[in-house]
Amino acid sequence: MRNHVYFFDTTLRDGEQSPGATMNLQEKLALARQMEKLGVDVIEAGFPASSPGDFEAVKAIAAQVRGLQVAGLARCLEKDIDHCWEAVKVGENPRIHIFLSTSPLHMEYKLRNSPEDVIKMIGDGVRRCVSYTGNVEFSAEDASRSDRDFLCRVAETAIKAGARVINLPDTVGYAQPEEFAALVRYVIENTPQSDKAIFSVHCHDDLGLGVANTLAALRIGARQAEVTLNGIGERAGNASLEEVAMALSVRRDYFGLTHSIVTEQLYPSCRMLSMTIGRPIPGHKAIVGENAFAHESGVHQDGMLKNRETYEIMTPQSVGRAGSSLVIGKHSGRNAVRSRFEGMGFKLDETELNVLFEAVKKLADRKKTLHDDDLMALVHEEIYRMPDRYRLRHVSVQSSDGGGVPPTAAVIMDVDGQEKRGAGFGAGPVDALFNVIADLVGRETELEQYSINAITGGTDALGEVTVRLNAGACTATGRGAHPDILVASARAYVNALNSLAKLETEKHEKNC
Ligand code: KIV
Ligand code: ZN
Repeated sequence: MRNHVYFFDTTLRDGEQSPGATMNLQEKLALARQMEKLGVDVIEAGFPASSPGDFEAVKAIAAQVRGLQVAGLARCLEKDIDHCWEAVKVGENPRIHIFLSTSPLHMEYKLRNSPEDVIKMIGDGVRRCVSYTGNVEFSAEDASRSDRDFLCRVAETAIKAGARVINLPDTVGYAQPEEFAALVRYVIENTPQSDKAIFSVHCHDDLGLGVANTLAALRIGARQAEVTLNGIGERAGNASLEEVAMALSVRRDYFGLTHSIVTEQLYPSCRMLSMTIGRPIPGHKAIVGENAFAHESGVHQDGMLKNRETYEIMTPQSVGRAGSSLVIGKHSGRNAVRSRFEGMGFKLDETELNVLFEAVKKLADRKKTLHDDDLMALVHEEIYRMPDRYRLRHVSVQSSDGGGVPPTAAVIMDVDGQEKRGAGFGAGPVDALFNVIADLVGRETELEQYSINAITGGTDALGEVTVRLNAGACTATGRGAHPDILVASARAYVNALNSLAKLETEKHEKNC
């Protein structure tokens, strides 16, 4: 396996640190199951000590997902490590991933510890992890701005203490590909017993070089890539899994490296994430964007017709972009519906199947053919909703051209179990709707983002609305899907209000 690259996916941890990308337990579980199908080697399911919600999510994923390693993140602190182990220990091959900063800047200003203290903390921390499991990864945070000889001491200490993976992150996305590869090579070549560990990289995208830096390091000997779906992550994000995997596959001649990613599952995985966090994939995004395989210019179309390799370096099928042939509509039976959902990675119990079957029938009355994206939206609407404090019952909206009666909305909803009714005006129909809902729930929030996306083609397409609300230090995202975009807007708004209420109750550290 000398030339094999291990994929470590941190969508559920670093990815979730991306503003507005909070996921609930059910959503995380579904994504983790999809990652099993995708063939990732390790998933970092969360940071158990950061919040009770993260702890529960990591524990549930470790208990339920098989066929891959589940890792939890921990600082180099006894209580973090113990907590992390409690969460991951039920997993098949659980991993504890600890980190500590090693750059002069971080040691002096963030940790306020001397380099010698840091070396001691690393040794003690790794030994504590090893008392639980041999599957230990150590990350030298801000490695790309650390002294290279100090990094060798750090790696040596961690390896001696028992770490089997040494991760060198470009935490702030500062490195340049050749420089980063040279640093990783230096550490591998100058750390005693470096052959006892797998070297890993974790590159952020602040200068748009996350993927380039990852690939450069893999080329010279790193064998684990820490990545996220769609490249989501802290600030500008992380190196994107689909881009790294396809670069290794398409340019096998150049890298000479193998991996276990099932590339046909790339698009379904990225699409699932995008639906889950309510963030559309940009059209021009490599591998999974709407336009990644679209050929617009006449010259290109002509070339494609003569030989597709003139303008295509990989097929849409190779990344899972061919549509499914099993059409779901009004006349589909329960088994067909179950099997379609299972094919998309959702394991449903009988109650969930009943709920979805009803929802499929209802939607099929308004829309002839249901595509995977429509079905995925139904799962998010009907199954993954968090227990709601606010529940929308009916909306009615009147548009206006500005003369006479202004745009008007009437809403009936439940607030803490009590039915409330209200009506009001706004600058436009969405504004009217949101004003009435805000009045009924009795709270003010700032609308940070409103976006609407037609799921699948046709005028009967489902409209998917994403709303981001801000209230003081808390931000929450909500989604709603419906063939009527005003109903979808109201659902998204209420969904965001419910998420906000939940975040505030939990005092979710990362988001509040
Ligand atoms: O960016 C970073 O350094 C991290 C570490 C915790 C691995 O996310
Ligand atoms: Zn990171």
